[in-house]
Amino acid sequence: MPHTLTTLVSQASAGLGCTPDVIAAAPGRVNLIGEHIDYCDGFVMPFALDRNIVIAAKRTNSETATLRSAGMPTATISLAAPQVIGEPTWTNYLRGVIDGFQKLGYTIPGFDAYIVSSVPGGAGLSSSAALECATATLLEGLLGVALTKKQKALLCQKAEHNFAHVPCGIMDQFASTFGEENRLVMIDCQTGEPTMVPFENPDLAVIIANTNVHHQLSDGGYAIRRKHTEDGLSIIGKASWRDVSMSDVEEKWDMLGDPVNRRSRHVVGEIARTQEAAAALAASDFARLGTLMYASHDSLRDDFEVSCAELDLMVHIATEIGTAGGVIGARMTGGGFGGSTVTLCESAQAESIMATMRQRYETETQIVPQIFCSRPSRGAHLVNV
Ligand code: GLA
Repeated sequence: MPHTLTTLVSQASAGLGCTPDVIAAAPGRVNLIGEHIDYCDGFVMPFALDRNIVIAAKRTNSETATLRSAGMPTATISLAAPQVIGEPTWTNYLRGVIDGFQKLGYTIPGFDAYIVSSVPGGAGLSSSAALECATATLLEGLLGVALTKKQKALLCQKAEHNFAHVPCGIMDQFASTFGEENRLVMIDCQTGEPTMVPFENPDLAVIIANTNVHHQLSDGGYAIRRKHTEDGLSIIGKASWRDVSMSDVEEKWDMLGDPVNRRSRHVVGEIARTQEAAAALAASDFARLGTLMYASHDSLRDDFEVSCAELDLMVHIATEIGTAGGVIGARMTGGGFGGSTVTLCESAQAESIMATMRQRYETETQIVPQIFCSRPSRGAHLVNV
């Protein structure tokens, strides 16, 4: 799959079949640490991938948006009426974002659009957030307006809530919007403010391993986990997870009951691990960072129960390669129930680590994984036409 932005831009323009008026790009994300705590006032540490969804569009004199993408039937959305959930399902991300702009009072001009992507879908790498953020950026371009990054991310999150029925936190849309080259997007999800954390050490590489086992966040597993954390907080009786200590969880263990007690232990532990990981990264204490990543995976597997055999296997392979082979740490990334792992390693060893992961994973599962490296890249933006 070609994935450079330049390639995607040419493909989108060629697919459109005429010179575009506007081209928008928005990336997927990978999360280094801080999983399933963005909806718990926690800290998360994602970065924008160098893999994007690109939309090229031409204004028309109609009141419709015509959407095309390779291998997909053409879809048409009416811009004259309020947006409603419709078919095909993927258009709901666009409908939700259009709805957000209409609710801000904008009249969207008719347009034809062609969409291309290098963000693997259903892989826990936020292809849906990338589609939402690319759509929002495209609409900004078509309307000649600019929302603040935060406003745009929140509008896209709302689209996901209302049009895809996934009660997601803010991590994915923030990472896709705020992403910058060589920067992690450390988000304090209590204040809703991101801090750009330098990540430019050329000796460090990040490997993303898509197990090619697909999960469906909207099948309920995600929403149930979120509900468990809400129940946990209400039983503990604090206003925010940031005010909860591990001893609070231990004191209320029986009252919380299983599995809410284990879900609560994950939340409190993961918030602490993410803060510690930020400190370890700042101090270049990579051994500590790696230990925290493994601990995060264990907690997601045992206490939060969002991992699966394939994710565990991929992390296990990385663990076995170990520090001797250049691996610093590994864990599942994203919502879970399939999807991808993230492995931090020494750049010099990245190729051989990827080869071992590919070969061993395929031998043991008969599934061909998709494994690649990515560096923190630019967030959603308009591409000069
Ligand atoms: C999905 C959601 C995010 C976040 C992660 C888990 O990607 O969209 O908001 O909750 O799962 O960390």
